Amino acid sequence: MTDTATAWVRPPSSAMAPVPHRVRTTVTETFEAVTICLEPAGQRLAAPLPGQFTMLYAFGVGEIAMSVSGDPTVTDESITHTIRAVGAVSQALHDAEVGTIVGVRGPFGTHWDLESCTGRDLVIVGGGCGLAPLRGAVLQVLTVDATGPGWSGQVARVTEPLRRLTLDSDHTTALLCGPERMMWFCTQALVEKGMAPKDVRVSLERNMQCGIGWCGHCQLGPLLLCRDGPVVTYDVADPLMRVKEL
Ligand SMILES: Cc1cc2nc3c(=O)[nH]c(=O)nc-3n(C[C@H](O)[C@H](O)[C@H](O)COP(=O)(O)OP(=O)(O)OC[C@H]3O[C@@H](n4cnc5c(N)ncnc54)[C@H](O)[C@@H]3O)c2cc1C
Ligand code: FES
Repeated sequence: MTDTATAWVRPPSSAMAPVPHRVRTTVTETFEAVTICLEPAGQRLAAPLPGQFTMLYAFGVGEIAMSVSGDPTVTDESITHTIRAVGAVSQALHDAEVGTIVGVRGPFGTHWDLESCTGRDLVIVGGGCGLAPLRGAVLQVLTVDATGPGWSGQVARVTEPLRRLTLDSDHTTALLCGPERMMWFCTQALVEKGMAPKDVRVSLERNMQCGIGWCGHCQLGPLLLCRDGPVVTYDVADPLMRVKEL
């Protein structure tokens, strides 16, 4: 067996061991979503980059993938996540009170690579919980397609303002995160404006378990999304997103 194969078969045990973190603060965002800030309860993890995710473990319940949603300029070793309660594990993490210990592995995956956007215009589109992974990258006003009390911004399907945008298509990068249908329609609108698919970055989510390219649960065509994603350029995502329920 080659060294490479050995490395693949045996993931580093440190990458599979949840590192205890304490819930420092919780902020209620909506009736089903909270933002929690975690601080190390001992060992420190590497600082996550916008677009990356961690595997969050609610002790005794289970472990799920969660994008980081914190401000990347805050360098106090905290990790912030915005969690929508949809099932057992996300509900347990959503309900975790200040002081609760949770397990964290990561950070994993690709990121938005904002450095490569230097000098370029940015189009950022978030749908639903897709705003969370984009939070660190959001620099300008978004529009929404449904409002809550207090919203005074635009109300429209996001493809409408995209079609009205004047783009310097050779010098623009788009960051999209949300339902795949939304990202597909947005990309069509941007490509109609002259943007190249390689300049559109999308965040793809699949069921994740190991988070380190080992178990195969997150496979999408030739990609393991925990390792090759979640952020991929649209030229890579397009053939995969065209296959229904792949
Ligand atoms: C890379 C990545 C980043 C993520 N970032 C966030 C985030 O920032 N905030 C957040 O709230 N959630 C995020 N998720 C989704 C989160 O991992 C799921 O909501 C979670 O796995 C649900 O587990 P559960 O035990 O609570 O519910 P389950 O009982 O496992 O599932 C409840 C329902 O949610 C659906 N579901 C489960 N996983 C997903 C998924 N990945 N995408 C869409 N639907 C799903 C199931 O089909 C089911 O209908 C992310 C997922 C991935 C893969
Ligand atoms: S989650 Fe195991 S290979 Fe991606």
